[in-house]
Amino acid sequence: MNLLITGGAGFIGANLVLHWIRNHPDDLVINFDALTYAGNLENLQAVKTHPNYRFVLGDLRKPFEISKAFSAHNVDAVIHLAAESHVDRSIHGPADFIETNITGTFNLLETARKFWGAELSTHRFLHVSTDEVYGSLGSEGKFSESTAYAPNSPYSASKAASDHLVRAWHHTYKMNVVTTNCSNNYGPFQFPEKLLPLLINNCLQNLPIPVYGDGKNIRDWLFVEDHCEALDRVFHQGDSGEIYNIGGANEWSNIDIVRFVCKELDRELGRSGDESCETLINFVTDRPGHDRRYAIDAGKIEKALKWTPHYSFEQGLAKTIRWYLDHQDWVKNITSGAYQDYYERQYG
Ligand code: NAD
Ligand code: TYD
Repeated sequence: MNLLITGGAGFIGANLVLHWIRNHPDDLVINFDALTYAGNLENLQAVKTHPNYRFVLGDLRKPFEISKAFSAHNVDAVIHLAAESHVDRSIHGPADFIETNITGTFNLLETARKFWGAELSTHRFLHVSTDEVYGSLGSEGKFSESTAYAPNSPYSASKAASDHLVRAWHHTYKMNVVTTNCSNNYGPFQFPEKLLPLLINNCLQNLPIPVYGDGKNIRDWLFVEDHCEALDRVFHQGDSGEIYNIGGANEWSNIDIVRFVCKELDRELGRSGDESCETLINFVTDRPGHDRRYAIDAGKIEKALKWTPHYSFEQGLAKTIRWYLDHQDWVKNITSGAYQDYYERQYG
């Protein structure tokens, strides 16, 4: 099978490309990515010359670049991850989110529909989305697949719109789609603007750790490799037209997770007292429209596809902290803009 993964140079995409090459030796993986600030080919160094891996520099906002990739690689299936993914950026500049997440998904669906033609229903299209489309919970309850959409940020609204497009292409054109809505991921290769890598990185550099508002907003955290395993299951065994929520039943308030990670880092770095990472915690003005609580009911994927997370939070976090400690150059490169030079050196 020739599998096109969009956004394969980003955080979850890179983990998924590596997972796929390890676990599906008969498949050719084509990574289609525009290499925005969040995309980094260094993440894929391990498979760069693998015979089952190809990289295509392409932008979802340009339909011609998508159709060129489909023709050049005779694409059989798609896993669609490419997106603008950071809520704070979406608040400051929503235009890119509308163009990539909504128009880009539309361009991809239309290219796949035209390319696969009469065989549309036999080619799988997995759309990777977020639990943020369901809005914000109070102190009780969890998001299920039947929870009504109520997105609150420009990011979640753009993802909700893309989910609706995918749904419509299934109902109208009988396209073979599956959609996943996953909770917050953490793990290697996450761009250090999201809470966990930002926190680890700021501790290592003795910079303040910004905690928004009262720090009591709750997120449901899942190790990225468990997400990749769930995507693999849904891709191979999910029923066409179905939605699967993915989450690890691992709710933390932001301030609790910040304190927990600080303790782990103190132990790892031999810091205590005035030097403890906790002294860097800095409560700052809240994010506008900040969703209070996310929590996933993953009962459907657990029952239907026998998926459960493999990593405990302690195991996943230990692996993540170790990875960031061992990859300080990666952090420096991705945040310094040196990546553009890297790309030109590597790929001309
Ligand atoms: P990311 O920001 O780390 O990576 C996004 C990738 O998409 C980058 O490689 C970027 O270069 C690429 N990209 C952006 N715009 C593009 C365009 N116009 N054309 C082609 N490529 C483009 O994102 P992530 O955290 O890995 O998230 C991947 C997907 O998973 C997203 O769709 C996101 O909504 C979803 N998701 C993320 C989380 C999470 O916690 N990170 C949770 C649930 C769902
Ligand atoms: P984030 O990693 O941006 O993911 P999302 O907004 O998609 O859930 O943020 C996770 C939580 O951490 C969210 O409630 C906002 C909060 N947060 C902070 O308190 N400080 C920060 O510097 C960041 C980036 C996030």
